[in-house]
Amino acid sequence: MASVDTSELGIVVVGTGMMGTDHLRRIPQSIAGARVVTVVDADSARAAAAVKLAPGARTAASLTEALSHGDVGGVLIATPGDSHHALVLEALEARIPVLCEKPLTTDAATSRLIVEAEVAAGQRLIQVGFMRRFDKQFLEVKNAIRDGGLGSALVGRFVHRLDVAPPRFTEADLIPEAVVHEFDTARWLFDDEIESVEVLKPRANAHATQQLAGPQLIVIRLAAGGIVVVDANMDSHYGYEVSGEITLEKGTVEFGRPSGVTYRRSGALTSDVTPDYRARFVDAYNAEIQAFVDGVRDGHLPGPSAWDGYVATVVVDAGVAAQQSGKVETVSLPDKPAFYAE
Ligand SMILES: NC(=O)c1ccc[n+]([C@@H]2O[C@H](COP(=O)([O-])OP(=O)(O)OC[C@H]3O[C@@H](n4cnc5c(N)ncnc54)[C@H](O)[C@@H]3O)[C@@H](O)[C@H]2O)c1
Repeated sequence: MASVDTSELGIVVVGTGMMGTDHLRRIPQSIAGARVVTVVDADSARAAAAVKLAPGARTAASLTEALSHGDVGGVLIATPGDSHHALVLEALEARIPVLCEKPLTTDAATSRLIVEAEVAAGQRLIQVGFMRRFDKQFLEVKNAIRDGGLGSALVGRFVHRLDVAPPRFTEADLIPEAVVHEFDTARWLFDDEIESVEVLKPRANAHATQQLAGPQLIVIRLAAGGIVVVDANMDSHYGYEVSGEITLEKGTVEFGRPSGVTYRRSGALTSDVTPDYRARFVDAYNAEIQAFVDGVRDGHLPGPSAWDGYVATVVVDAGVAAQQSGKVETVSLPDKPAFYAE
């Protein structure tokens, strides 16, 4: 058995694709009080390449093998959503805290099973990777709304754009993979639950990827009457943008616009747009993982809970139904367990 360094939280990173590799790189570079002990990927060649980013770490073929080493204080899951259910339950059974990338799972029924397992364990062990809750701009917007000086939030206009849709990205991926972030953001910023979802499809973009015809508008209605409209466009052909504006009773709050150095040249006024989520949200990912590490060490996990992950998945199910039916689809939620009261 490997020797246990109790001064640092030993983390297993499961999944070494785009997101897992990014997290693997940040833990030694930017996270205090933690080190990667084991790197797991179903593809052993990927694990072998990725482990070089984490000095002193080993590879394992499965989470089961990683947990057998006995030096694990936390699990970071960055595999595709359809593997999250089994991996999260395995970590829960071992009573090891988990930071699970969004989505918690790919359907409400399996997310509910995770919530029930965590409640039965009697201890918060799961944080879901809705990293926008750790982004400085989003936090400022949250504080501006909570402060109350501008009155209640009435309308949100959110933008979620990629430069070009990833390979194999289809219409069916838009809501579970991308808009799930806005479902969580809308609930969190408005401090309200989503009552219904509608999906509007404008004319197709002739330059979009084959499988995704173009942008879609997602209309989110909240219980207290607020409305959020998401402009979700995976083929913007200019870069990555997550931005928006909230209309309140006495003003507005705008966030996420390109910022930094502005050039005036060749008859144009320009500033840079981030190429992807890793660049735009680097500080938020750092803060999210630091909060997880600190939370595990303090015995109090912060941030988006399994309940938040479950609710987002329920709304995703309604959103996918709305995308297919063209109708307003209602969201039906059970009562929130007292276990998740803030
Ligand atoms: N928070 C964000 O902004 C954000 C951004 C992108 C992706 N994500 C999420 O991160 C997760 C990973 O996305 P990605 O783009 O890195 O995926 P990816 O396809 O690039 O990589 C996934 C990796 O997981 C491995 N894998 C698959 N099943 C496994 C299993 N059961 N056990 C071990 N390894 C397994 C694959 O071999 C692959 O290396 C997804 O849940 C995705 O939604 C979050």
